[in-house]
Amino acid sequence: MKVVISVGGSILVPEDMDITYMMDLANLANELANKHRIAIVTGGGRTARNYIESARKFGASEILCDLIGISATRLNARLLSAAIGKKANLEPPGEFMAAREVMDSRRIVVMGGTHPGHSTDAVSALLAEYIEADLLVNASDVDGIYDKDPENYRNAKRYERIPIDKLVDMVKSYSLGAGRYELVDILAAKIIQRSRIKTIFVNGRDLGNLRNAIEGKRFTGTVIENDG
Ligand code: UTP
Repeated sequence: MKVVISVGGSILVPEDMDITYMMDLANLANELANKHRIAIVTGGGRTARNYIESARKFGASEILCDLIGISATRLNARLLSAAIGKKANLEPPGEFMAAREVMDSRRIVVMGGTHPGHSTDAVSALLAEYIEADLLVNASDVDGIYDKDPENYRNAKRYERIPIDKLVDMVKSYSLGAGRYELVDILAAKIIQRSRIKTIFVNGRDLGNLRNAIEGKRFTGTVIENDG
């Protein structure tokens, strides 16, 4: 299987870099790579947010803030590559063709952002489309997709399954501000919709659960229904 995993910056760098988590994720990636072709797209986390907030204070434009955010995501990609070791690319690919070459050479793709105007969730969806992935996993610090923000509403309910049209509807009013993407960005949702990419949302902090999701076992999360 070709699997693309979008790892939210919130789990790689919640406040500081979570080195233990990165090492465990690297071990899982190396293990999964024995059976599958794996690509990991890393978010920017606290690093991206800190830099973007500072740049905004200096009056930087949104595109400059995006470019700063992209640098943070690529920094995390470099760090995860180092943890994975020789099976991963040394340089994070900056575009999809280069990522595909890494995958075709049977190595693990580790990349961050590409272009301004979206988040790494969109990068992972585009990469999944480009390499014709069998599965896209969106791993964040939330257990899946809820009907309301579970951080603010105690009665928020997780969807076991959600139609892609409903997800697109939920996120269409979200901001496109640098460092301010919420659940998932609209571009990612639209790409998943147009190419009917098999997609699941899971809590990536629980690596056992992430593994189960990839291996087709029982897992906690949300499945996107997009089969027409
Ligand atoms: P993230 O993908 O981490 O965004 O990229 P996020 O969803 O806001 O943060 P997490 O993952 O939930 O913590 C960080 C920022 O980098 C810019 C955007 O400004 C984004 O918010 N970025 C990233 C781009 O402009 N293009 C990209 O391809 C990736």
